[in-house]
Amino acid sequence: MSFSHTFFSSLFVLAFVSPLLASAHICTDQFLTEVSQMNITEKFCNTKTLKVEFGWNFNNESRRLDIAFGGRLHGETGWLAWGLNPVGPHMVGTRALIGIKRQDGTLEALKYNITAATKIGCQLLPSKDIGLDVRNFSFVKVNIGYYVIRATIFLPKEYNSSKANVVWQVGEHATESGPLMHPTSIKNFDTAEVIDLVSNKVIGYTAHRRRQLRTAHGILNIVGWGVFLPIGVIAARYFRKFPEEWSWWFVAHVSCQMAGYGLGLIGWGLGLWLGNHSKYYIFQTHRNIAIIIFTFATMQMFSLKLKPKATDEYRKYWNMYHHFLGYSLLAVVSVNIFYGIRIFGENKAWKWSYVGLLGTLGGVALVLEVYTWIKFFLNKVEEKKHGSKDQISAAVIPAPAVQGATITAPAPAVGAAT
Ligand code: HEM
Ligand code: HEM
Ligand code: HEM
Repeated sequence: MSFSHTFFSSLFVLAFVSPLLASAHICTDQFLTEVSQMNITEKFCNTKTLKVEFGWNFNNESRRLDIAFGGRLHGETGWLAWGLNPVGPHMVGTRALIGIKRQDGTLEALKYNITAATKIGCQLLPSKDIGLDVRNFSFVKVNIGYYVIRATIFLPKEYNSSKANVVWQVGEHATESGPLMHPTSIKNFDTAEVIDLVSNKVIGYTAHRRRQLRTAHGILNIVGWGVFLPIGVIAARYFRKFPEEWSWWFVAHVSCQMAGYGLGLIGWGLGLWLGNHSKYYIFQTHRNIAIIIFTFATMQMFSLKLKPKATDEYRKYWNMYHHFLGYSLLAVVSVNIFYGIRIFGENKAWKWSYVGLLGTLGGVALVLEVYTWIKFFLNKVEEKKHGSKDQISAAVIPAPAVQGATITAPAPAVGAAT
């Protein structure tokens, strides 16, 4: 099976099968057994992003809410947080119950008011009063390897039980003074839902639908900017004139760049749409690099209209500009693809698929580059032997140096005349 076949089939699985698997969100039997003493049943228990499980039992008359929130903490330190936000489904304003695992192995259960100051990096400090009547609050490690927060809350009137903003988080680091910043992949931001506590209906939770769009965004960007553009450049670099002359190189170059630009543009637009719909966070660096990509690629596409003729005097300057922008574009594209994969944070398959793809394209370019130089030196030797500098010298100069020479060569080959 070829590499491209494997690559595209794994992307297909990632795009269409994994979201279906991810949407099965009933609690595990082990967790249900663990929380059964709290009268939490399967109906009011779900697995959530970050592989945590949340079960509850709500009495609409007394407004008593019993919650159990469990997940794994793999590192030496870490924390689990669960909270309610009276304002909206987001981090700032959340009244959180946090279970902290310290380096010495001790566990602590503390209450916190998460404010805008927390978001800009101020140390999170525990609060006595978080505006909620919290009882029986505990944080323990249970037999199934989970750490579990348990608590009873008497829900105040300002919290709408049929539209409760539930927010959760898992952090990997904690110090003596408290929990530290959690990871910043998209999974850590998809951690707020509006839930009807009475019927267990999730209102306005769009993460699963978004997941498919994000996957489509990733694939379109990888295929468009990350596959078609480099293939088009390989066609222009190695098949224009030297080491091989292929009369269709120009068609191949322009078609690949147009296809890549088209697909990339759709992926880019989808990214902007997703970004605009994520109200509470922004991936600024990814977004800025994306804007640079769009600008560079659009400038390259202007060549369709603005490219000087092969015989024009200033063509060599256009060549320099077009080459420089083209290679810079390839560099920023791969940086942003790695960046995107990191924030997507799904699993290592994306990263390694792209590394494999980059390695294949790089490998092909390397082989062709080596072939170029070998042919160049062989031609030089040949030239010396025959003492002739005419035809051969015009044809042997390798691609990097060819720009000026291509134009001044006495009889440019078909490809070079474009
Ligand atoms: C330990 C201290 C914490 C720090 C320093 C921190 C910091 C941040 C930062 C910088 C962002 C990204 C915002 C952006 O890109 O605009 C964020 C997002 C988020 N955090 Fe935290 N966070 C902390 C604790 C928590 C806790 C305890 C929770 C849950 C109870 C939480 C839930 C979220 C959620 C749901 C988001 C997504 C964006 C949003 O809803 O605002 N964070 N956090
Ligand atoms: C995003 C789109 C594009 C990118 C990234 C790109 C990139 C490149 C690169 C890197 C090279 C140099 C290859 C080498 O090392 O020799 C090149 C050459 C070339 N490209 Fe493009 N290109 C794009 C679009 C276009 C378009 C739309 C045209 C159509 C006019 C075009 C026409 C050419 C020509 C004529 C050459 C050969 C220049 C020479 O004689 O040195 N390119 N392109
Ligand atoms: C060169 C390629 C790429 C470009 C030009 C690009 C462009 C963008 C843009 C403009 C945004 C919106 C940022 C914001 O406003 O917050 C975005 C978001 C995002 N991108 Fe990319 N991206 C690229 C590659 C990738 C890849 C390969 C992945 C991996 C799957 C990816 C995953 C994401 C995710 C998860 C978001 C956040 C979406 C959300 O807020 O819901 N990107 N991208």
